[in-house]
Amino acid sequence: MKTTISLIKADIGSSPGHVTVYEPLMVKAEELMQEAKDENKIIDFIVFNAGDDTELLMTHQKGVDNEEIHKLAWDIFMQLGKEAREIGLYGAGQDLLKDAFSGNIKGMGPGCAEIEIEERPAEPILVFAMDKTEPGAFNYPIFQMFANPFNTAGLIIDPKLHDGFRFSVMDIYKNQFVDLKCPEEMYDLLALIGAPGQYVVKYVDSKDTNLGRAAAVSTDKLALIAGKYVGKDDPVAIVRSQSGFPAVGEIVEAFTLGHMVSGWMRGSHRGPLMPVSLDFSQCVRFDGPPRVVGLGFQLKNGQFKGGVDLFDDPSFDLTRARVNEIAEYIRRHGPFEPSRLPLSEMEYTTLPGVLKKLQDRFHD
Ligand code: F6R
Ligand code: MG
Ligand code: MG
Repeated sequence: MKTTISLIKADIGSSPGHVTVYEPLMVKAEELMQEAKDENKIIDFIVFNAGDDTELLMTHQKGVDNEEIHKLAWDIFMQLGKEAREIGLYGAGQDLLKDAFSGNIKGMGPGCAEIEIEERPAEPILVFAMDKTEPGAFNYPIFQMFANPFNTAGLIIDPKLHDGFRFSVMDIYKNQFVDLKCPEEMYDLLALIGAPGQYVVKYVDSKDTNLGRAAAVSTDKLALIAGKYVGKDDPVAIVRSQSGFPAVGEIVEAFTLGHMVSGWMRGSHRGPLMPVSLDFSQCVRFDGPPRVVGLGFQLKNGQFKGGVDLFDDPSFDLTRARVNEIAEYIRRHGPFEPSRLPLSEMEYTTLPGVLKKLQDRFHD
């Protein structure tokens, strides 16, 4: 049977400021998802949060980009946004940029990652959600998982992984894709995805056509959709694991650097990405540091079994300690680059006003 996994997310309002989702609204989201499950619109679901983003993870048999599924998520977010406004939550309806649904949630504000798979007899699925950063923040860990043998031992020693994977990279400004094979075209791939503000890994596919899609990342660029800054893109990803895909341990290993990402305070700073458990899925210090949460399941006939909060483990303590140290170091730079992003990438700026004010005072 073919199963579709859809992970659709939006910031519908939070408390205090942009820190975390308001618990009663998570409960509300669960009730609304349960209704959809009772009406057989979806097979199963999980609601969780990444900082101030509400994440709706669901399974169904309707394929990717399905209008009914996207409308279900949209209607739930609209309902939550309305309640967030009434409660007085901060940034209520922040990511809901359109008034009326028009067939597909893409381009309307929420982020979306989807995979349709032929379920294997035992199908391990991992999902990841980040807050206070951009879709390109997944480039580094996805490369580590699927292309770097120093991270993923299976690329060298497991015959099922030894041929490598195919990456589909999106130029988010031109809305164009290029497919690159690894390891054959690894240097070309890195030439692109080393610039995560423009080139973003959208999909990874196995070269074994029986296995199919390995990973999908959301690439919705809120700033480009709205034509102005309306909040960071806060991406999500779905990753398949084991028996021809990287092992669970190889996948989570990709998050142990605490790699630098763009986002953090006012979407205008660089900071290290901290892997955290759901209990610490909130962004506090300098509105961060940027965080990632990860959940793992076995999927059976579209049902999520045996869920695990992947970063709720002491083996990530060292990464978290390093992230805190790097965060401390880079914060000391204050308004100077590289702590602050270069002018072209900042989401907030006073520069045009400052330049206008000073225009007559520049001299030779
Ligand atoms: C970044 C983020 C926060 C806000 C900051 C200012 O993605 O959500 O860092 O940018 O708290 O928020 P406003 O402009 O709403 O006061
Ligand atoms: Mg927010
Ligand atoms: Mg957010």
